[in-house]
Amino acid sequence: MSRYYLTTAIDYVNSRPHLGTAYEKVTADVIARYKRLAGFDVHFLMGNDEHSQNVFKKASEEGFHNQPVAYCDRMEEEFTSVWKALHCSYDDFIRTTQPRHKAAVQKLAQAAFDAGDIYEGVYEGWYCVSCEAFKPEKDLVDGKCPVHPTLTPEWIREKNFFFRLSKYRDRLIKHFEAHPSFLEPEIRRNEILRLLDSGLEDISMSRAGQSWGVPLPFDPDSVVYVWFDALINYATAVGYGTDDARFAQWWPADLHVIGKDITRFHTVFWPAMLWSAGVEAPRQVFGHGWLHYGGQRMSKSLGTSVDPMDAAAPKFAPDAGPDPIRLYLTKEISYGSDGDFTWERFEERYNVDLANNLGNLVSRVVSMADKYRSGRVAPAGDGGRLAGVAAASLERYRTAMDAFALHEGVAAAYQLVDAANVFIADSAPWKLAKDPANAARLDAVLFEAAEAVRVAAVLLRPVMPSSCDEILRRIGAPVTGAALRLDHARWQSAGDRATVQGPPMWPRSEPKEITVTEPAAPAPAPEAAAAPAPAADARIGIEDFLKVELKVAKVREATAMPKSKKLIRLLVDVGEAEPRTILAGIAEGYQPEQLVGKTIVIVANLKPRPMMGTESNGMVLAASGPGQPPILVAADDSLPPGTRVG
Ligand code: MSP
Repeated sequence: MSRYYLTTAIDYVNSRPHLGTAYEKVTADVIARYKRLAGFDVHFLMGNDEHSQNVFKKASEEGFHNQPVAYCDRMEEEFTSVWKALHCSYDDFIRTTQPRHKAAVQKLAQAAFDAGDIYEGVYEGWYCVSCEAFKPEKDLVDGKCPVHPTLTPEWIREKNFFFRLSKYRDRLIKHFEAHPSFLEPEIRRNEILRLLDSGLEDISMSRAGQSWGVPLPFDPDSVVYVWFDALINYATAVGYGTDDARFAQWWPADLHVIGKDITRFHTVFWPAMLWSAGVEAPRQVFGHGWLHYGGQRMSKSLGTSVDPMDAAAPKFAPDAGPDPIRLYLTKEISYGSDGDFTWERFEERYNVDLANNLGNLVSRVVSMADKYRSGRVAPAGDGGRLAGVAAASLERYRTAMDAFALHEGVAAAYQLVDAANVFIADSAPWKLAKDPANAARLDAVLFEAAEAVRVAAVLLRPVMPSSCDEILRRIGAPVTGAALRLDHARWQSAGDRATVQGPPMWPRSEPKEITVTEPAAPAPAPEAAAAPAPAADARIGIEDFLKVELKVAKVREATAMPKSKKLIRLLVDVGEAEPRTILAGIAEGYQPEQLVGKTIVIVANLKPRPMMGTESNGMVLAASGPGQPPILVAADDSLPPGTRVG
C-alpha cells in the first residue's frame, strides 16, 4: 500500500485555537480522510509550536513562572480537545518541547554546521515577536510590521549564527522549475518565484541570551531560532534523529498544509535546511487562504474570533456535531482562496445543504422504503439515469480531490444528491405504489434512489464522517466506516438492503430571534393616503407571524377542475416523502400547463381542507390587484423544495 505523509502547521500556544486555525486542521483532515478512502496508508501529523517568546511570556502571565512546559501541557489539552471535537483524525501530535524533537533539531543543526552552512555573526535589525521573524527595514510599513501594525518591532543587536540560505537560491529556482506542483496554488508559487528572483539573504538560525528553546549543539549558550526549530517537527515525527529506519520509510513528506502567510518558511528555508543536512525536500506544500469573520481578520483583540467549540455545537443545531461546520468550511470556500464565516450564513447553509437537501433526501428514501416495502430495497435492473450521474460525480470528485479542489469535490457529491431529489420527484414512487402492476418499477426506483444516496455518502465521508456513517447505516449499505474505499463509490446493482428509520438527522433550525427595527416617529398622515395604516390593535406580533410556515414548493402537476372557474388542482413537491395536493384559486391567471415546473411559495402548516371532493393541503401565495387575475409569488429556482421562507 502506498504511504502518504501529511502534516499541518504547528500552532503557537499563546492563545486557544480559533476558527481560522481550525479551518486549516479541518481541511487537512478532509485530505487525510480522502487519501485513506483512496487506499493510501496515511500518516497525519498535527502539533503545537511551543518555543516562541510569546508562549514564554504568556506562561508567566498565566502564573506559570519558570514553568513554561507546564503551561504548554495545559495548552496541549486545550488544543487536542478542540481537534477531537472537530473529529480531526491525526495519527500523531507533536510538541516542540518533546525530547524526540530536541534530538532531531540538534542533529539537523549539527549536520548543517558540518556542511559549512552555518557561521557566526551579529544580527542588528528589527524583530517582530508576534511573527517571530527578523524584519528587513524595507518590509516595514510606517515602521510597523504589516502583519501586526499595532505592535512596534524590537530593534535587536545580538550574536547570531547564520544559515547560508543564499547558497541555495539557484537550486531552489531549479527545484521550482522541475516540480511545478511543489507549491500550490499557483498564486502562492508566483509570490515565491518573485522572491527568489529578487535574491536571497542568509538568515539567522539562533537567538542569544534566551533559555527558551533547543540549545545549539555547537554553542550551548544560544538556542535555535524558533522557525528553524519548528520546521524540523515534520522530520522529527517520523523518526529523524531517533529512528533512521522509520524516517527512511516515511520521508519525504507528501504534503505540508499551511497558511498562505508562511509559504516562504516552508518552500524556501525548509528545503534549503534539509538539503544542507543531506535530506530530500518535501514533495508538496499547499498554502490555503485565510478565514475571515464577517469580512474582517479573525482576531481575539478585535472581537472577531470564533471559538471552534461553538461552531461544533451551534446554537441552531446543538446536537448536530462538527459535520455542519466541516461541510461549511469545505464547501463554501474555494480551497486556496480566502473565505468568510458568519453565523447567519452558516445557519443558512445548514438549512439548505443539510436540513432541506441531503437530510430530506435520506429521510424520504428511507421512509418510502419503509412504507412501500417494509424497509427492504432489492436490486432491479442495472440502474437507470442515476447510475450515470453517480459515475460522472465520482470521476469529477476524484479529479477535484486529487488536485485539492475540496470545494469542487463536495460539489460533485452534491450533484448526485440534487439529481436523486429530482429523480424521486420525476418518478413519483407514491403514484407507482397505487397500482400493483407497477411493483417492479417501484422496486427499481427505490433501489436506484437508495443506491444514489449510498454513493453520495461514500463521497462525502471525508467531509462528514459521522453523519455519512449514519446515512450508510440507515440506507442499509453493506460497507461503512473506515473500511470504505473509493471503489465502494462505484454503482452497485446487487444485494438487498435493509433500511432503518430514524429521527431527522438535521432538523431545520427555526429563527430564534428576529431583530425588529423600532419604527421612527410617525410621519404626519398624507392628505389622501392610498390605504390607511392598519389600526394598532389589528397588527400582529412577530410571534404570530412565525406561526405561519411558508415554504418553497415546486409544481409537479397541474390540472383544471372541470366544475370550477377559479380552481386548479396542483400537485406540489415540498421536500416531503410525498407531494401534496393543493387546490389553488388561480385559474383566472394561468392555464394548468403553464404552471408545471414553477417554483412557488406555499403556506405549509394550514389544516387540510376538504374542497370539491378533494382535500387541499396548504395554500399557494398569489397576488392580485383589484379586478386583476392572480399572479403567483415566485421563488428562485435554485431553492430546493421545502426551503423555509421568512
Ligand atoms: N507556529 C507557526 C507555524 C509553524 S509550522 C512549522 C504559526 N503558528 S500560528 O499559530 O500562528 O498559525 C498556525 C496556522 O494557522 C498557520 O498555517 C496559519 O497560516 C494558520 N492561520 C492562522 N490564522 C488563520 C486564519 N484566520 N485563517 C486560516 N488560517 C489561519 O504560524
